[in-house]
Formats: sequence, structure tokens, C-alpha cells
Amino acid sequence: MASKLMHVVQYSSYGKGAANLQHAEIPIPTPKKGEVLVKVEAVGINPIDYKIQGGFLRPFVPKKFPHVPGSDIAGEVVELGYGVTKFKKGDKIVAMLGSATGGGLAEYAVAKEEMTVIKPYEVSAVECAGLGTPALTAYQCLITAGVRLDKTGPPMNVLVTAASGGVGHYAVQLAKLGNTFVTATCGARNAAFVRSLGADEILDYKTPEGQALISPSGRKYDAVIHCSTGMSWSTFNNVLSLRGKVVDITPSPSALATFAMKKLSCSKKQLIPLLVSSKAEDLQFLVKLMKEKKLRTVVDSRYHLSKAEDAWAKCIEGHAVGKIIVVA
Ligand SMILES: NC(=O)c1ccc[n+]([C@@H]2O[C@H](COP(=O)([O-])OP(=O)(O)OC[C@H]3O[C@@H](n4cnc5c(N)ncnc54)[C@H](OP(=O)(O)O)[C@@H]3O)[C@@H](O)[C@H]2O)c1
Repeated sequence: MASKLMHVVQYSSYGKGAANLQHAEIPIPTPKKGEVLVKVEAVGINPIDYKIQGGFLRPFVPKKFPHVPGSDIAGEVVELGYGVTKFKKGDKIVAMLGSATGGGLAEYAVAKEEMTVIKPYEVSAVECAGLGTPALTAYQCLITAGVRLDKTGPPMNVLVTAASGGVGHYAVQLAKLGNTFVTATCGARNAAFVRSLGADEILDYKTPEGQALISPSGRKYDAVIHCSTGMSWSTFNNVLSLRGKVVDITPSPSALATFAMKKLSCSKKQLIPLLVSSKAEDLQFLVKLMKEKKLRTVVDSRYHLSKAEDAWAKCIEGHAVGKIIVVA
């Protein structure tokens, strides 16, 4: 297997953009101890992929060039590394490779056994490839904000910003599994879509009320899952309940300063920066929700691996509704 070649999409230098991607044939990787080789069926494209290409984590990530991006995959196990016990050849799986490691934009990828879970036959590879980074982020934000997804928690008013995007569309659905009233920001063209995910009220982010995050029903938010950018603390401060929390997934330097200040002053209102952490039990839980039809991936668009640069360009445009998926 190791001597055979596979098609990959990679880049060889920093510099954001679809034009900087190259199609190449490289040897199929050999799974090491605790790894499985996966024939990739689908891979989700995330904004962090092009941000890394643009030098966001320079000089630490990527570790070397050329780099094959892509973290969130679904596919079939075709070879087992030493010591793998959870899987056998032919298993359909969902895995997170990690955005820093990458490797997903390829015909084959190696995944760590510990970050791989079985894909139920009821859910497609395309839907499962959407999950990884964005759905885990949404889930971890809600848990951090104190939302209990089994309706055992107290009633909470939750605001999700950029609710039409990859993270936001999972956040709305997951929030509604809790005892929540959900306000969601999106553009006017996506209002019906975001309502269909379960949002109770919509704020058009291009209106003055939307920019001020003012709830149409006059609520104060107990939790804000902040998936868009460019909001100041004073905007949040006006709309938070007494112990309201903002969980920010793209914190600016001033948001980080606010976080430190609120911590030091033991403020009741908090801003919490969050970086997604790859946890197999979270992935397993989200896959189970999909199987039970409590969570779905809305596919913005899908592209064949041979057209991966179009998927990349679409992600950079920043107007995806749900997930952009590449199929191999
Ligand atoms: N911290 C972490 O661990 C972590 C994890 C995942 C993602 N992220 C980051 O979180 C951000 C969101 O990720 P994503 O995958 O959801 O992105 P995405 O899918 O590319 O988001 C695109 C969507 O956001 C909407 N949008 C853009 N600006 C908006 C605004 N100001 N108000 C309301 N909606 C807005 C767009 O709607 P229109 O077309 O109407 O503008 C579009 O539907 C990215 O910056 C990503 O890098 C961080």
C-alpha cells in the first residue's frame, strides 16, 4: 500500500488563497502505532484552514511544507496500524485529524484511533464530515456557558451570532436541546433558514438593532455564543443578564484584555475565549445526536477533490450557509 500514490491538495508556502493550492500525487501514508488509514469520502472545509495557510499560526503551523490541509473527515478504514483494537478494515468512521496536522484534503488520510468514532449507517459521510471542528466548537461553547442539553437546566436566554455559518448553525440546534430561548443573528436572506434550525427570534446583523444585539422581545442574554467578529464589550455589557457569559471563538486582543480584566475583578458578567479541543467523547455524542435526528448538517455546497480550490475560495468569501464539503 505504501508505494502506491494518491491524489492530494496541498500548499508549499504561506499565502492565503485558492490559487496557492496545488494538486499532487504523493505516496499513500502508512498508519503508525495507534493509527488507522482511512479512504476519505468527505472532508469539511473550515475557516481555520485558510487562516493557517495565511500564516495565522506562523511559524509553528504548519510544521513543514508542503502541507495537506483538512481536519474533519468521514470515510472507510482500509488499514490498521500496530495496536489498533477499536476498528477493523471496512468500518465507516468519522475522525478529526486536527487543523494543525491536516491531511484530510486527500484520497487517503491517517487518523489517530483515539480521535476516530464509528459512523452510523443512517448518517451520510458528507453530513458527518461537517461535524468535527464546528460542531465540537458549538457544543463546547454551550457547555462552557452553562447550557445543559438535556433540558434539566434553568431557563436561559441564549444569543448565537453568525447563526447561519458552520459553527452557528450547529450552535442554534444544540442550544434548542436545552431549556432555552434562542435569539440568533444572521443576514436577512438567511432568516427563514435560521428559524428552521429552531431559533426563536432573529436579528438582522445589518440593522442598527442587530448591531446593538437588542433582542426583539426585550430579553437579556444569559449566554452569548459569539461566532462573528467585531463586537466591543460595551455592546455585550448592555444586553447581558446579571451573570451573563459571552463565549468568544475569535477573540480580538481587546477581548482577551476584557477576559483578563473580568477575571481579575471577579466580575459577574464574563467574556470567555474558547479554543476547540478535540475530544472523542464529544464527537461520539454529536454523531449520536445526528443518528437520533436531533442534529443535522446543512450543506452549503459540495465540491469534488479535483475542484477543492473552489471550495477553498468559497470558504474565504465568508458567506457559507452551513458547511462546505469536499468529496473524494
Ligand atoms: N476558537 C475556535 O476553536 C474556533 C473553532 C471554529 C471556528 N472558529 C472561528 O469562528 C468563526 C466562524 O466560523 P464558521 O465556520 O462558522 O464560519 P463560516 O461558516 O465561514 O461563517 C459564515 C457565515 O457567517 C455569517 N456572518 C458573517 N459575519 C456575520 C455577522 N457580523 N453577523 C452575523 N452573521 C455573520 C455569514 O452570513 P452572510 O453571508 O449573511 O454575511 C455566513 O453565513 C471563524 O472566524 C472561525 O475561524 C473558531
